Amino acid sequence: MKIKENILNALNGQIKAEFDSAFLYLSMAADMYKIGLDGIGHWLYVQYREEQDHALKIFNYLVQRGEKPELLALEQPVYEWEEPCDIFRLALEHEQFVTRSINELVSLAKSEEDYATDVFLHWYVMEQIEEERQVQDILDKIRMAGENGNGLLFIDDELSERKYEPIDQETD
Ligand code: FEO
Repeated sequence: MKIKENILNALNGQIKAEFDSAFLYLSMAADMYKIGLDGIGHWLYVQYREEQDHALKIFNYLVQRGEKPELLALEQPVYEWEEPCDIFRLALEHEQFVTRSINELVSLAKSEEDYATDVFLHWYVMEQIEEERQVQDILDKIRMAGENGNGLLFIDDELSERKYEPIDQETD
């Protein structure tokens, strides 16, 4: 069954939102590498790769449904921040925006009785819980470290351990 045009447009918009997220995290990584916080930069770089996977998972779903995904122009990401705290505050706001976007998509899929898209989106609903939680955790730690340079270096070291785990692109 073909995907209705309004759902197709919304899914294309979500592909853009996920690639926008990827660019935003990559820009944040560049900023952290520049000031020598390589561990935080590494964490953000891994997040960039995960966001690309989020976008590609939707891309592949549309292909599987016999549709041609449309790639929309991306936003120019913010390029500079004052400090790591600002980065993770913005990251949290951004993840909350993505969560709202996913929830709206689920509502649309339900109202249009597109049950396949509804089920497909469940993965994103659960993923957003993790996305918000991990950014909030890091933000809390950075706030606790405050002006303490050693505390920030400890967080930098901890975040350098993050491993990239490719996200399953299969939708069936
Ligand atoms: Fe793809 Fe961080 O949401």
